[in-house]
Amino acid sequence: MTRIYFNDVVTRDGFQIEPNFIPTDDKVRLVNELSQCGFAKIEVTSFTSPKAIPMLRDAEEVMGRIERVPGIEYTVLVPNLRGAERAFESRADEFNLVMSTSETHNLANLRMGREKSFSGLAEVIRYVDGRTPINVSLSTAFGCPMEGDVPQSVVEEFVQRFADLGVRGVTICDTTGMAHPAQVSLMANDLQKKFADLQLTFHFHNTRGMGLANVLAAVQSGIVRFDGSLGGLGGCPYAPGASGNISSEDAIHMIDAMGYDTGIDIPRLIGLARELPQIVGHPVPGQVAQAGSTCDLHPAPAYVAELR
Ligand code: COA
Ligand code: ZN
Repeated sequence: MTRIYFNDVVTRDGFQIEPNFIPTDDKVRLVNELSQCGFAKIEVTSFTSPKAIPMLRDAEEVMGRIERVPGIEYTVLVPNLRGAERAFESRADEFNLVMSTSETHNLANLRMGREKSFSGLAEVIRYVDGRTPINVSLSTAFGCPMEGDVPQSVVEEFVQRFADLGVRGVTICDTTGMAHPAQVSLMANDLQKKFADLQLTFHFHNTRGMGLANVLAAVQSGIVRFDGSLGGLGGCPYAPGASGNISSEDAIHMIDAMGYDTGIDIPRLIGLARELPQIVGHPVPGQVAQAGSTCDLHPAPAYVAELR
C-alpha cells in the first residue's frame, strides 16, 4: 500500500483568516488531538509579525505547551530572520519559509518584491545552516488572484533556486483555488522528474470546488505529501477571495477509501472536525464530518422490512 503523508495546517492557515481570536487553550488542545489522530506533520503556528497576523501572536506559548508525539513533525511558518530566531527558541522540527511566485501577491502579503523575499529567505537558510530542516512554500503557484496566470516555468525557476540552497522540501501552493486537475498533473509530473531529491508537497484550497479533484490528479501523478486543514478552514488574509483549504478529513477519507495508507485514525479525525464549529463560532465547509464516513450506515426505514 502506498503511504500518503498529510500535514494538517488548521491552527496556522486555518485560523489566520478567522475574525475572532481563538484562545491559546483551544489551539493547544487541537494540536494535541491532531497528534493523536496520527498526522505525519502539523503546522502549528507562524512566527510572523503579530501586527500582520494577530491571530497567531501566541505562537511561542502554543509551541511551548503542546505535547509532542515522537515521530510527528511540528512545523512552523517563518517569514524572515526574526521569525527563524523565534522558531529556534521554540524548538520547531521544521521551518516552513514562505514567498509567492507572483510579484503582486508577494507585495500584498509580505510587503516586498520577490527578489527581496528570495534574498531574505536565502539569508535565513544560511543562518539555519542545516540545524533544522527547511521547507519552502511557494504561494499562488497555480495562478494569482490579482495577476492571473503564473507560468510553470516561473514556479520551476524558484524551486530550482531553493533546491540549489539545499532546502529539504518545497510546497506548491494553490493559495486561492485556481488550479485544475490537468494543470496539477503537468506540474506534478514535471517537478518530480526535475527535482527527484526534493520532498514535494501539494497545498490546495477548495475555493472553486476543485480541491479533491486536484488531490486525485496529484496522487495519480505520484505525489505522496499533502497539506490539508481540519474542517476545510483557511485562507491567506492578503489574497483577495481566499477561502478554505481542502478539508483534511474529506481528503483523507477519499484517499483511504481508494486503498492508500494514510496512517490516520479517521473516526477520531471526523469526531474532532465536528468540534470545530464550536471553537470558531460558525459552520465549517468540510463535508464528511456532516455526512459521516461511507462506513457509517443508517438504519433502513421500518417499512423496508415489510417489503422484503
Ligand atoms: N516576528 C515578530 N515581529 C516581526 C517579525 C517576526 N517574524 N517580522 C517583523 N516583525 C515586526 C518588526 O519588529 C516591526 O515591529 P515594530 O513596528 O514594532 O518595530 C514590524 O514587525 C515591521 O517590521 P518590518 O521588518 O518592517 O516588516 P514588514 O512590516 O515589512 O513585515 C513581514 C514583513 C513578512 C514580517 C510581515 O509582512 C508579515 O509577517 N506578514 C504576514 C505574512 C503571512 O503570514 N501571511 C499569511 C501566510 S501566507
Ligand atoms: Zn494556504
